[in-house]
Amino acid sequence: MANKPFIMDHPLIQHKVTLLRDKNTGSKEFRELINEVAMLMCYEATRDLPTKTVEIETPICIAKANVISGRKIAFVPILRAGLGMVDGLLQLVPAAKVGHIGMYRDHDTCEPVEYYCKLPADIEDRDIIVLDPMLATGGSAIDAIDQLKAHGCKNIKFMCIIAAPEGIEALTAKHPDVQIYCGALDEKLNENKYIVPGLGDAGDRIFGTK
Ligand code: PRP
Ligand code: URA
Repeated sequence: MANKPFIMDHPLIQHKVTLLRDKNTGSKEFRELINEVAMLMCYEATRDLPTKTVEIETPICIAKANVISGRKIAFVPILRAGLGMVDGLLQLVPAAKVGHIGMYRDHDTCEPVEYYCKLPADIEDRDIIVLDPMLATGGSAIDAIDQLKAHGCKNIKFMCIIAAPEGIEALTAKHPDVQIYCGALDEKLNENKYIVPGLGDAGDRIFGTK
């Protein structure tokens, strides 16, 4: 059975996603917000990390306390827009490695075209969180995860800030094992396959290219 997508309902995330949607939010603030939302979502996406008990000495006494044990993590942003989420996540998990998959949607067909892939050498041993602010048709996420599975990756999560129902459905159908974390679930795609109401073109807004 496919995992149910995890739609964030935290007020801080909802507030920041609303600011992202506003067309008057400029690139500097937009970049900061993307990182902040990614960081808040990381809290939920890492909830299942295993812990072990160690002995430490506090200023008061010897105590047993938990630390994260063993698991190795990789973040894999889908270029370009996924890059905007990386720093937020690395602030919480600084030991994670980062792989990159470059993909753009062809303007006429809206089909993803892969142009770059560079992954950590031990990627198949890592728990992976694929990052992309937008899950529209789902084509880019599906192809990126296909690529990771072709490299032997097994434990994969997908984190996006805004998703369309069409993207959730397509990604869940193709990769039912991948847990989706999503900051907001929107209404639909428009005739150009943009998310409605969405936030526009995430890459252009992060990098100021339009
Ligand atoms: C955007 C977005 C996703 C993709 C989502 O990237 O960042 O990667 O579209 O659409 P899909 O679910 O229909 O595949 P875009 O193609 O605009 O490339 P960019 O990040 O380089 O601007
Ligand atoms: N890519 C974006 O950046 N925005 C959308 O709404 C759809 C795809």
